[in-house]
Amino acid sequence: MSDQHPPVTPTSLGYFVIGASDLAAWRHFAVHVVGMMAGDIGETLALRLDENAQRLLVEADDHDDLNAVGWCYDSERELDAAIDQARRLGATVEDGSATLCATRHVERLARLADPNGLVHELHYGPAMAPMDQAFRSAVLRGGFVAGQLGAGHYVAIADDRAATERFYRKVLGLRLSDYIRGEVAPGGPVLEATFLHAASGRHHSVAFACAPAAKRIHHIMVEVADMNDVGLARDRCRAGGVPLMMDLGHHPNDGMFSFYCVTPGGFGLEIGAGGRVIDEDAWAVRSYTRLSDWGHQPPPG
Ligand SMILES: [Fe+2]
Repeated sequence: MSDQHPPVTPTSLGYFVIGASDLAAWRHFAVHVVGMMAGDIGETLALRLDENAQRLLVEADDHDDLNAVGWCYDSERELDAAIDQARRLGATVEDGSATLCATRHVERLARLADPNGLVHELHYGPAMAPMDQAFRSAVLRGGFVAGQLGAGHYVAIADDRAATERFYRKVLGLRLSDYIRGEVAPGGPVLEATFLHAASGRHHSVAFACAPAAKRIHHIMVEVADMNDVGLARDRCRAGGVPLMMDLGHHPNDGMFSFYCVTPGGFGLEIGAGGRVIDEDAWAVRSYTRLSDWGHQPPPG
């Protein structure tokens, strides 16, 4: 990238758009197991993590996968610069219609697809919930860590590492956090994952790895403020028959204490606490050799 065009980086990952064959199952899981706040349910289900009007939008379809993610910019000027950047690098970027903006609860958006078929919605002006509808969880002791840091993160499955890295780092302008190259299980295949952050500094808003998978993603992650809420969510999974994907553990790179359960869509949801926030001036990119310091084991049998 030339000096003429300093990289434009989104502020945060604003939202997830999930396709789901069973909205009622998602509503129960999100509200009573995870602790999100549900809005209306019809053709779509809006889910809140904070004062934003929606952070997860669950749409009725048969894919049961992540359909799109929203990248939030602080101003229309930054959004325009981001669209210019993507187009200069050869991406096909389409303006989102007024109807689409209304479903996403944003003032304006533009869409482009990545090399793996996931749609990215660059936007600004997310709507806040009405003042008299403060965020309230039915089950959490604390709240979610979202706000300026965004909705959370996701781990994408990549077909082509180089093309995927170019998309995320150049076209979207995300910043490199670190790498992990490690065995998924002792003696098993080595996974190479690349972690990237947006400008507000959540350790990663996206990571990607080349691996065989039935879905576009391995998991999405939401962060809670009180680490007890991680353990309590695990208890609710076990009591409610929600399968665990990986049990409690700690990641060396983002410092997250977490476990993973299986969503109604079949992909994972990581529920974590204590995630690192990057100070850009003091950050050095590292490569780790283990996915977890301890734990994150698949549940027995
Ligand atoms: Fe994660």
